[in-house]
Amino acid sequence: MRGEFSIFRKRLLDWFSQAKRPLPWRNNPTLYKTVVSEFMLQQTQVDTVLPYFDRWLKSFPDFKQLAEASEDQVLKHWEGLGYYSRARNLHKLAKSIIDEGIPQSASEWTKRPGVGPYTAAAIGSIAQDLPAPVIDGNVIRVMSRLENDNTPVKSSADAQKRFRPLAERLIDARQPGDFNEAMMELGATICKRVRPSCLLCPVREHCEAAANGSQDSLPVIVRKSTTQRSVARLWLVKDDKVLIHIYPKDAVRLAGMAELPELPQNPGIEPILTRSRGISSERIRESIFALSPDHPLVDGCIKDSCTKWIPIEELDRLSLSGPHKKWIAQLITG
Ligand code: ADE
Repeated sequence: MRGEFSIFRKRLLDWFSQAKRPLPWRNNPTLYKTVVSEFMLQQTQVDTVLPYFDRWLKSFPDFKQLAEASEDQVLKHWEGLGYYSRARNLHKLAKSIIDEGIPQSASEWTKRPGVGPYTAAAIGSIAQDLPAPVIDGNVIRVMSRLENDNTPVKSSADAQKRFRPLAERLIDARQPGDFNEAMMELGATICKRVRPSCLLCPVREHCEAAANGSQDSLPVIVRKSTTQRSVARLWLVKDDKVLIHIYPKDAVRLAGMAELPELPQNPGIEPILTRSRGISSERIRESIFALSPDHPLVDGCIKDSCTKWIPIEELDRLSLSGPHKKWIAQLITG
């Protein structure tokens, strides 16, 4: 990095005070709003989070009311946001805050459900003025460019280790929350992955990559090779009821969530719907098949203890994962 840290901090914070987006958790901030927003923002973009955040605060306005809600209500409010363990952990965290009180350091936060080093630093700095640096994807990109560091980044853990020393020296201990949010905001709006807006950057004079013209190629990220997988699903309606798979409460993934049942193999006919999606380094192609109740692949699905016949008018009460809600709405309206 070029120049003085103190000048860097002042330029970054001055820029943030006038450029920051008016986000609902920045409006009369509270510890509760910070916690909810940081859980929602793990792996999810700001624009996607906005409507969920508003609905969540209307239904669960504080830790106590969240702690007292049922798991089904909590999951229903997370429906469509993905990575559902975040919702269950946030619910558990609210209960732990009611029972054990509020953590007072970043390391105490990481002992609570769903709180890793990144979320602990974000909550601790923004809501409690703790000088813990946030090192997320946006911040890693900013720092790799400040340093013109082209060492290949193999994983998030690898990047955390590499950039932590700089992040700890760089953070403004007098305004750690504003500093962390400003670094994230700079990464999200100026120091973008493609075509960064260097001409608008408040800390351009500090940037080795901008001086060198190498910003477009940084950071150097080693992508894991993607694997392909196909999933066949069943669409079966009988007497105005749909066969639905509900994950048990103790399932490792998607506990309490509902999906169309998986078929043990592709039935070799034309699917009625298909969709392709990426989850981390996996590419999943899902196809839905309408089979008759006496098709040999259907019997196992009906006998599965996790499947249930749900009346069409009650489907809205389920928490459906990902694209299933959209599929089912499409299939019901024909
Ligand atoms: N991403 C995660 N937390 C954020 C925050 N507080 N502000 C902006 N982007 C974020």
